[in-house]
Amino acid sequence: MADRPFSASELAEPGEAVRVCRRLLAEQLRYVRTASAFYRRKLGDGPDVSVDDLAALPFTTKDELRKAQAADPPFGEIRAAPQSAIIRLHVTSGTSGRPLAIGFTRADHERSCEIGAAAYFAAGIRADDTVLHCLNYALYVGGLADHLSIEHIGATMVPVGIGQTDRILDLWDDIKPTVVFSTPSYARHLAGAALARGREPATLGLRLLVVGGEPGGDIPETRRALQGTCSHEYFELDKGFLTAGTLTCALHLSRFDLSDGEPLDPPAELPLEVYPVVVEDGRVLIEVGDGPLPVSEE
Ligand code: FES
Repeated sequence: MADRPFSASELAEPGEAVRVCRRLLAEQLRYVRTASAFYRRKLGDGPDVSVDDLAALPFTTKDELRKAQAADPPFGEIRAAPQSAIIRLHVTSGTSGRPLAIGFTRADHERSCEIGAAAYFAAGIRADDTVLHCLNYALYVGGLADHLSIEHIGATMVPVGIGQTDRILDLWDDIKPTVVFSTPSYARHLAGAALARGREPATLGLRLLVVGGEPGGDIPETRRALQGTCSHEYFELDKGFLTAGTLTCALHLSRFDLSDGEPLDPPAELPLEVYPVVVEDGRVLIEVGDGPLPVSEE
């Protein structure tokens, strides 16, 4: 893997990077104070705000943003760019309350692609990769923005979305993917579905998994790879749930210890296969062994 960064700006000397950040911050604060009624009220009309004054600025809470948008949907008086300059609208997941609307101007879109591309390049994706994007594209910012960021590297993007496991496995040898971008549990599910077809995941030709969206990719304690089907009866474990250190099968509620795969409750009696997980150069590699998975024969 080339060790150069995606963008020359990543090579800036620390002093130069700080100078650029100071200039951009001052410009941004001046802009929102001029163009957004919400921030004008929040920051007042005083002199320019510098990095050194940041501690004196008031916090903006998510609740304030929600109230401002609820009063005048979709963006309320937070909006700084004119409506005609907004080319895309996303909404947040809404897990902690009313979803927030996010507007992208063309300049926002270009910056998002540039920054996202640098991140995915650092994760190991290159222009000659074919990437299966297996996350939800609906409404939230990640699906489409991540797609366009990886496309910005020059990689060949395959917009899979969710619920396409059988189709993608049918087409696998034609598309020849080299990277899967998904949640950790979907990567496990895909490996399990390939195994259920008699196809070893190691023969799929993947060189990289890039995961996000749930714990498991970046928290060492949760970095475990277990077989994707229950050892009691054939049931997909990605439909179960994770609690402190255990994985619960959703069919008969047997819990398994995540560290060694041992069943903690009946009816399951056999342990789950646990695969070694290694992290190399930011890549999570799972070593899947040969042989059948342990499943009770009743
Ligand atoms: S299939 Fe999992 S506990 Fe029965």
